[in-house]
Amino acid sequence: MYDSSSIIVTGGAGFIGSNFVLRWLATQKTGVTVFDKLTYAGNLENLATVTQDSRYRFVHGDIVNGAHVRRILEEEKPWAVVHFAAESHVDRSIVGPAEFIRTNIEGTFQLLEAVRDYWGKLSVGKKKAFRFLHVSTDEVFGSLGPNDPAFSESTPYTPNSPYSASKAASDHLVRAYHHTYGIPVLTTNCSNNYGPRQFPEKLIPLMILNALKGLPLPVYGDGGNVRDWLYVDDHCDGIQSVLDRGICGETYNIGGMQEMSNIEVVRQICCALDEIKPAAKPYAEQICFVKDRLGHDRRYAMDITKISRDLEWRPKESFAGGLRKTIQWYLDNSDWVENVTSGSYRSWMNTQYAYSGMEGDAQL
Ligand code: NAD
Ligand code: DAU
Repeated sequence: MYDSSSIIVTGGAGFIGSNFVLRWLATQKTGVTVFDKLTYAGNLENLATVTQDSRYRFVHGDIVNGAHVRRILEEEKPWAVVHFAAESHVDRSIVGPAEFIRTNIEGTFQLLEAVRDYWGKLSVGKKKAFRFLHVSTDEVFGSLGPNDPAFSESTPYTPNSPYSASKAASDHLVRAYHHTYGIPVLTTNCSNNYGPRQFPEKLIPLMILNALKGLPLPVYGDGGNVRDWLYVDDHCDGIQSVLDRGICGETYNIGGMQEMSNIEVVRQICCALDEIKPAAKPYAEQICFVKDRLGHDRRYAMDITKISRDLEWRPKESFAGGLRKTIQWYLDNSDWVENVTSGSYRSWMNTQYAYSGMEGDAQL
């Protein structure tokens, strides 16, 4: 099905995007062009191991700049665009929603317009083979009660945060470009990822790094909010399955089948660290409860029947196994940690956790 042309990956210097690019170059013959703005969350170090690979190209660009995207599409003539680029952190969307509207909605719109131009000029065969894969989230479906069934592909959208609302808007745009213009799109909605290269503003890396530094482990509210955790390689594998075998115009839920409350996740991190890198006292003594996130969704869970049945995809990694690999990666990559936790990271931590009712200075 693929021809020899490369794919374009937006947001390929971020957490999931970089894991996807590394996996692609290790398993596929064709190349990848990463198109990334390098915001605080994008880091070229994530791609350092492939810079010498002749199939890899990096373009520093903003998806809101449609003219730039058009130029790169014309130069690369990709058979697929895999769209990861987004503002992705819920807490930041609560403090400052504007960037989320700009990148996630306006950026996806500009990208789709550029793809529409490019795709419209392709031959009939290449038009059919082309794919636009949009990477989205389970958060568009809103929040579940303790006994509600998991989200399916037909669950109505009820986004609750500026982040999830902006992702929901982008999902609708992608859907509309298929329905109206016939662009061959695929959308994936995935649950919480964890693994190597995740920016340490997110729960799991934040807890690992704070624990190792002897800092408080700030659990929001009562710690009873539930997320469905998926190891990042499994997510990348799911995206690959959808790209290879998904039906255009369809959406696919991807999830880990590993629902857990936040306090349970944090306790497991502490127990794993007690074994891997014992400290004077058990790490769990650093846990503290802080002011809750505004509008905090209580529970997410994904029904993955469709992708398992139609594309034979299932998560492979257990939470215990994935967590150990993740902890080991952060222990082995202290330079990466040092680089990403300087400057703007420090000011975010001080603002966010002072606001949550903790001593800002105690954080770093
Ligand atoms: P991330 O924040 O780690 O990375 C985002 C990347 O996008 C960065 O490299 C950043 O520089 C780039 N970017 C941001 N704005 C851009 C712009 N205007 N133009 C070009 N590049 C831009 O995000 P992530 O956690 O890797 O998430 C990737 C995608 O997956 C997002 O669309 C997110 O909504 C979705 N998703 C994430 C999760 C998760 O648990 N992290 C789960 C489901 C879906
Ligand atoms: O569900 C998929 C989504 O998962 C993705 O679309 C988002 O891009 C990604 O950031 C993630 O969103 P969450 O808000 O669920 O992830 P986060 O790691 O920020 O928080 C996970 C849970 O942990 C959430 O209930 C809030 C809580 N939390 C988070 C932080 C950062 C804490 O209790 N303390 C913290 O310090």
